Amino acid sequence: MVMKKKRIAILTGGGDCPGINAVIRAVAKKAINEKGMEVIGIEDGYHGLINNRWRTLRYDDVSGILTLGGTILGTSKTANPYRYAVRKGDRLEFKNLSKIAIKNLKNLDIDCLVCIGGDGTLGIAYRLFKDGVPIVGLPKTIDNDLRGTDITFGFNSAVSIATEGIDRIHTTAESLHRIMIVEVMGHKTGWIALYSGVAGGGDIILIPEIPYDIHSIAEKVIDRNKKGKRFSIVVIAEGAKPKGGDIIIQRIVKESSDPIRLGGIGFVLGEQIEKMTGLETRTVVMGHLLRGGSPTPFDRILATGLGAKAVELIEDKNFGYMVGVKGNSLVTTPLKEIARGPKLIPFNHPLIKTARSLGTCFGD
Ligand code: F6P
Repeated sequence: MVMKKKRIAILTGGGDCPGINAVIRAVAKKAINEKGMEVIGIEDGYHGLINNRWRTLRYDDVSGILTLGGTILGTSKTANPYRYAVRKGDRLEFKNLSKIAIKNLKNLDIDCLVCIGGDGTLGIAYRLFKDGVPIVGLPKTIDNDLRGTDITFGFNSAVSIATEGIDRIHTTAESLHRIMIVEVMGHKTGWIALYSGVAGGGDIILIPEIPYDIHSIAEKVIDRNKKGKRFSIVVIAEGAKPKGGDIIIQRIVKESSDPIRLGGIGFVLGEQIEKMTGLETRTVVMGHLLRGGSPTPFDRILATGLGAKAVELIEDKNFGYMVGVKGNSLVTTPLKEIARGPKLIPFNHPLIKTARSLGTCFGD
């Protein structure tokens, strides 16, 4: 009797990041090479699922993509089968097209849908799972704000780019005796700001989890000046806000289920610092640069391990879980837990404690 080959589909959703192609490669290569499965790639995230856009991924299609940035499948930050935006003239209408998405998957005769994404994508994946779709999730985001894993792939690459930026800013800050503010991504959490801030020797690190007091920042800058350090580096997450104040919204993306896009808090802070201290200040927003380019070796290894583990879950029919890493082990966490909201930096995080003990100011 001929056994039917298992068929899996891979989908990448949300913002791209370095390491997605490495994880696609790991899932597809192991599935094809070791397990004899067939692999399909869904195009442009949940858009492709709703509009039935997909292509077969053969071994050769996923060979040579380990070091490539972005995602060969394309992605989307707006497509949500449960709240799909349809333009009617000037208006947007939201439709629940999840039944169409699920029917398309059934027609493809899929044994499992591998969803590679952050909180938004995996939140939708959880709803699909509850509606009967066999799902395995993989943790992708530069923000590192997913529960169920110590670290997401993309984070290490983003930190490394941000750190290089801070290093470059350091020399001009020191030469011109300026206050330089480096704004990095991180809307709800400040993982990138904290890690790159510490790695780049930032004097002040501002994160959404610790609302700042402008007076304590000005004090720190003036104190450094008095001690002969005539420059300061401030690393700020885009989602940071002053005590009792608000985040800076750059735009609203109506089509998106998470519509707020941030950016610009660094400029507001820069003006305030300059006014209060009389010291010349400049701001640099790193923004989408943090998502670009080739993954670091760390992210390539992480993505490869996570992707290979996902195939074992599929083989064992262990659906409804996300693969993550805790300490030195690969672990699985129910998607339900992942959908509970972002993983914030705890106030007593060891890196915050260490940085404080060295004199770093967190603005509180
Ligand atoms: O969620 C990832 C993220 O990179 C955030 O850090 C940032 O706030 C947001 O995406 C930016 O979104 P967009 O690419 O839509 O501008």
